[in-house]
Amino acid sequence: MSVAKKEYKRITVKSLVEMKQNGEKISMLTAYDYSMAKIVDAANIDAILVGDSASNVMAGHETTLPITLDQMIYHASSVVRAAKRALVVVDIPFGSYQSDSKEALRSAIRIMKESGAHAIKVEGGSEIKESVSRILQAGIPVMGHLGLTPQSIYKFGTYTVRAKEEEEAQKLKDDAKLLEELGCFAIVLEKIPAKLAKEVAESVSIPIIGIGAGGHVDGQVLVVHDMLGMTHEFHPRFLRRYLDLYDEMSKAVSQYVNDVKSKDFPNEEESY
Ligand code: KIV
Repeated sequence: MSVAKKEYKRITVKSLVEMKQNGEKISMLTAYDYSMAKIVDAANIDAILVGDSASNVMAGHETTLPITLDQMIYHASSVVRAAKRALVVVDIPFGSYQSDSKEALRSAIRIMKESGAHAIKVEGGSEIKESVSRILQAGIPVMGHLGLTPQSIYKFGTYTVRAKEEEEAQKLKDDAKLLEELGCFAIVLEKIPAKLAKEVAESVSIPIIGIGAGGHVDGQVLVVHDMLGMTHEFHPRFLRRYLDLYDEMSKAVSQYVNDVKSKDFPNEEESY
């Protein structure tokens, strides 16, 4: 049974803002390839994030830092080909927007032009305000990302909850306001206290999408490999696993190996 308040044929950045106004929660998941994006889109997800978490789950890197702009464009264009309804948002990767706003705009344009995505996401607040403004001025929708911003992991040192202290919480609130004023259409808040996330969601008119930010925000995002249980080693408190695909897939692969070795596969019916 659908719990959507309004049927959307195609989700736009405006639809997400409308959902917030109507009190309808926004669902977002990551995807990085055509087959996964097709499943996620057909299940009526509102937004697909081609996250730079591809660096971790697709490429096996420890952090999101190594993934390149070309690699993000490759992942994004595969997802765009599959998405018939969802809004496709793409992370601008580390190193392709921090040095100056012109470089940021060039990177955002490459993502939009070469992948066909609908919006981009950037990590940070006041430090990158010129880049955000320049990208927005070019007509490219921007989603912000505050709280735990994985591209700054070496500055933080750990993946623990952010903004527990007043000073950092205040900066996060100021940054959220700033991103709204600049014209961002939504903000991801990652791994911060639920009370702070609620306060931010109530203080801005654009949607706040949380990951590890509690239930009082306007929507939720998870990494699809984590929620399907394909990744085994990652157990943060905020993660709800809907399947244990690691286990299921391992069993299927072992069975296949056995069937080949025992000459059970292929049988007569599976042969020409
Ligand atoms: O890259 C990513 O998957 C993200 C989400 C964790 C929000 O930025």
